[in-house]
Amino acid sequence: MNRPTGYEPLYTLKPVAPDVWLADGGWIRFYGLPFPTRMTVVRLTDGGLWVHSPIADRQGLKDAVVGLGPVRHLVAPNWIHYAWIPEWQARFPAAITWGCPGVQARARSRGVALALDHVLGDDPPPDWEGQIDQRLAESGLHREVVFFHRRSRTLILTDLIENFEPAKMPCWMRPLLWLGRIRDPDGRMPLDMAISFQRRKAHLRALVRCMIDWQPERVILAHGRWYDRDGTAELRRAFRDVL
Ligand SMILES: [Fe+2]
Repeated sequence: MNRPTGYEPLYTLKPVAPDVWLADGGWIRFYGLPFPTRMTVVRLTDGGLWVHSPIADRQGLKDAVVGLGPVRHLVAPNWIHYAWIPEWQARFPAAITWGCPGVQARARSRGVALALDHVLGDDPPPDWEGQIDQRLAESGLHREVVFFHRRSRTLILTDLIENFEPAKMPCWMRPLLWLGRIRDPDGRMPLDMAISFQRRKAHLRALVRCMIDWQPERVILAHGRWYDRDGTAELRRAFRDVL
């Protein structure tokens, strides 16, 4: 699928805050549905780079990333975001790969041998403790680790909120955005995921309260328009039925 995503320029590092960048990528299909992709890069205080949900490498994206510093960490932040981890590992063999619980099994079920160095949990490892906070969200179906970069007050989500802009999506998908509650500006947790959290409401509520307590200024999402301001208010809006 080569048509524009609406987030052009793609495969280009875009500054978000000091030491935080994102890059928008092309489409990926998931159960037949097209999703525009996005990755986030954080430069840690030692100068090493932390790469969240790396996207395809086109137009020299990896070379541009190298220009920011050495790639030390590759992060597969939820159980279904791993597609380009192997090719980033091939380019950066010294990088440590961190994965959400379940991502390795999921990759294996799709015929991908995903090698992880560490599995992520609720507590940040010493590698980024004090700089990036994290919490594991787990519904039984969906598993995702959320991250908060303290210095820039940037919350980095993957699929926990999706916020598709209808004008950027194929016409036939627009009713699905409304049904799935993932339509800009009122992007929320996708309905199927929200249903999967029904039996773990207290867990989800605690997670949302933790994210609100972090008081993020901005919230980066993997799909659709991310929230570049009023992040805490956006969390209260998106999770209003959980609080
Ligand atoms: Fe996703």
